[in-house]
Amino acid sequence: MAVRKITDEIYWIGSVDWDRRLFDELIPLPDGTSYNSYLIKYDDDALLIDTVDPAKKEEFFLNLREANVNKISYIIAQHAEQDHAGCIKDVLQEYPGCRVITNKKCKNLLIDELHLEDNDFYEIEDGQVFQFGKKKYQFIFAPWVHWPETFLTYLPEERILFTCDFLGSHFATSKLWSEDTPDIYYAAKRYYAEIMMPFRHMIKNHLDKLWEIPIEIIAPSHGPIYKKPEFILNAYQDWVSDKVSDEVIIPYISMHGSTEKMVYHLTEQLIQKDIKVTPYHLIYTDIGKLAMSLVDAATIILASPTVLTGPHPQVVYAAYLCNILKPKAKYAGIIGSFGWGSKMEEDILQLLKNLKVELLPTVMVKSNPRRDDFIKLNQLAEVIAKNHSNLK
Ligand code: FEO
Repeated sequence: MAVRKITDEIYWIGSVDWDRRLFDELIPLPDGTSYNSYLIKYDDDALLIDTVDPAKKEEFFLNLREANVNKISYIIAQHAEQDHAGCIKDVLQEYPGCRVITNKKCKNLLIDELHLEDNDFYEIEDGQVFQFGKKKYQFIFAPWVHWPETFLTYLPEERILFTCDFLGSHFATSKLWSEDTPDIYYAAKRYYAEIMMPFRHMIKNHLDKLWEIPIEIIAPSHGPIYKKPEFILNAYQDWVSDKVSDEVIIPYISMHGSTEKMVYHLTEQLIQKDIKVTPYHLIYTDIGKLAMSLVDAATIILASPTVLTGPHPQVVYAAYLCNILKPKAKYAGIIGSFGWGSKMEEDILQLLKNLKVELLPTVMVKSNPRRDDFIKLNQLAEVIAKNHSNLK
């Protein structure tokens, strides 16, 4: 996509990756993504904020040519991951004398990754203000959104905040500006769930700082740019809060139908109690949707048959994912089935050590569930309803 104007001297020169469907060989990208690089021109000189994924290098350099850039004195590298930093070495080769503005942690990561030299860098500190041309650039360190070196760049005169991964979205669109519509909200929430949620407590602190700064534009390095910063800041404030929703999610697998009968029975019981419930069949579930549901749900029930004394591997995967994403759920439970013996409960609990949850009574069924087993599931639904009544 061609160069896009943001203000008189600030341009978007990134790349929209319409067809990318997986990130880190892990995260599904149903809507593609974009790598936003920003160009700030001053007389016959220029400064870049981030670059693009190396797969889009050719398009990136075409954009630089289209923008008539003959000299680049600085690249601000806000984050070392290659979808933003992957073309830095190429820029340094193409524009001799260009230096990389970044912090010490990012510098060290870039030296390891790109084999740059120490004198390629201009090292900055948290809060430092850097002057280039008529503009001031203030650096706000924001570790763990989502790597330890990440920082934000604020232009006080324009009231623009460049946030790299933070507040972004994997959303390929021809529109430069976010229209604050449900599809952007959905993409930003998916992005938060998959990438930012484990750092919820740190993000709370970063948000506290941002509310104190006058911001008119938030320009992330993925997805459209926000003209109404409160749209995304309020969304994040909600997602990182301790508030949970009256919702139960049940990631499950069933091999011969017993666990499925249990899941459906529990689901029906919860529906009758007017509790939002979503069973996620783990063979067919989009992992991103599961992650999104973990942003708010008060209760997680993992449901599995027994495979060689332990949980089904797909349930192991889901439990591991729940554990590393560190959702704010308040309650968790296990239901499932076995033929002749099982240590599934203890195996799953070992995988959930990061969760700060109250454990619900486990319901295990030998083979095909009987009336007494369904009564135990009714009792579990009662416990969940009582817990959830305290949320309202
Ligand atoms: Fe978009 Fe952490 O890279």
